[in-house]
Amino acid sequence: MLALAGYPLGLKFRFLDETRGPAADVADWRLASFSDNDALDRFADGVDLVTYEFENVPVSAAAHLASRLPLFPPPRALSVSQDRLAEKDFLSSLGIATASYTAVRSREELEAAAGRLGPSCVVKTVRHGYDGRGQVVLRQPADAAKAWDMLGRTGRTLICEQLVPFTRELSVVAACGHGGKMAVYPLVENEHRAGILFSTVAPAKSVSEALTADAHSIARRVCAALEYVGVLAIELFDCNGTLVANEIAPRVHNSGHWTIDGAETSQFENHLRAVAGWPLGGAAAALPSRMLNFIGEVPPLTPLLEIAGAHIHLYGKEARPGRKLGHVTVCGVDEEDADRLFRKAAQMVGAPVLAARS
Ligand SMILES: Nc1ncnc2c1ncn2[C@@H]1O[C@H](COP(=O)(O)OP(=O)(O)O)[C@@H](O)[C@H]1O
Ligand SMILES: [Mg+2]
Repeated sequence: MLALAGYPLGLKFRFLDETRGPAADVADWRLASFSDNDALDRFADGVDLVTYEFENVPVSAAAHLASRLPLFPPPRALSVSQDRLAEKDFLSSLGIATASYTAVRSREELEAAAGRLGPSCVVKTVRHGYDGRGQVVLRQPADAAKAWDMLGRTGRTLICEQLVPFTRELSVVAACGHGGKMAVYPLVENEHRAGILFSTVAPAKSVSEALTADAHSIARRVCAALEYVGVLAIELFDCNGTLVANEIAPRVHNSGHWTIDGAETSQFENHLRAVAGWPLGGAAAALPSRMLNFIGEVPPLTPLLEIAGAHIHLYGKEARPGRKLGHVTVCGVDEEDADRLFRKAAQMVGAPVLAARS
């Protein structure tokens, strides 16, 4: 998606990954281990700058590349977001609210944490979790032992978080240019199913000026502290108008995919503009949009293509349960139209929208 956004701007791309990915179909592409410094050096030869769109790129690989050519976002953004404890410590140090949390390294510590933070809490592996993987929700103290058996045995450090009674999930996606310039996309509302992003309503409805100001302030503080350059997303819980930060994604984000079709400038183009040191494009919504992920399987495309204002994006990935294989964005002429198209598209994706928030 970055390459597709960059070709019209005259950019050329080379990608490096540890497994074959969709970028291999559209650009010069290298298969190598992130820990192979010789391969990283060959990758860097003739390249002007490096960026990444995966937060589990090892910090050592990013630092190695950053020692020889410009690399954005800065490696510190990786080290903060790869570790849920470091991430929450970082957010807290900026005065940004998070769920109450504690590190857990043994069954006893988990039981004590669940007693203190519970009755409802969520235990997560500190590293390498995504799409709800590596997480167990505890509803009662007795669930702690079960959760430890599922997650703790591997010897990995865990984090226990209070389950936040949010009214909805939002995210803010921001493009940060060199010199502190920012383009912030409107807040969007995200629905997760089984921990996986299912849909995004963009812009989110019923967003007060105060809520927007709070989200912007959170984004500004995070970007400033990390000296961030590129696109970044912050997942937020909206608790009746009070924002609690969940996690930081130092990259273009699934909840920003609607911007390809529904915003003045897509997040992918703005990421490239930011890292290249170019002026940022407008981040306003051009049309009310709804994005629906294809999870585990790609639905029949023809009926979706018949929806006026529907845009399909397939990632060229092999189907696997729980894997995001593509998405459809519907853009309406107004909110009502967008909601109607959303319900129609969701039915075709085989996962009806449960409730249309007004
Ligand atoms: N502390 C929490 N309170 C309430 N819900 C949570 C909490 N942590 C995670 N969740 C739910 O699980 C989803 C996935 O968790 P998240 O921390 O974002 O991990 P991932 O890296 O898998 O996206 C969230 O979007 C939210 O729906
Ligand atoms: Mg998340």
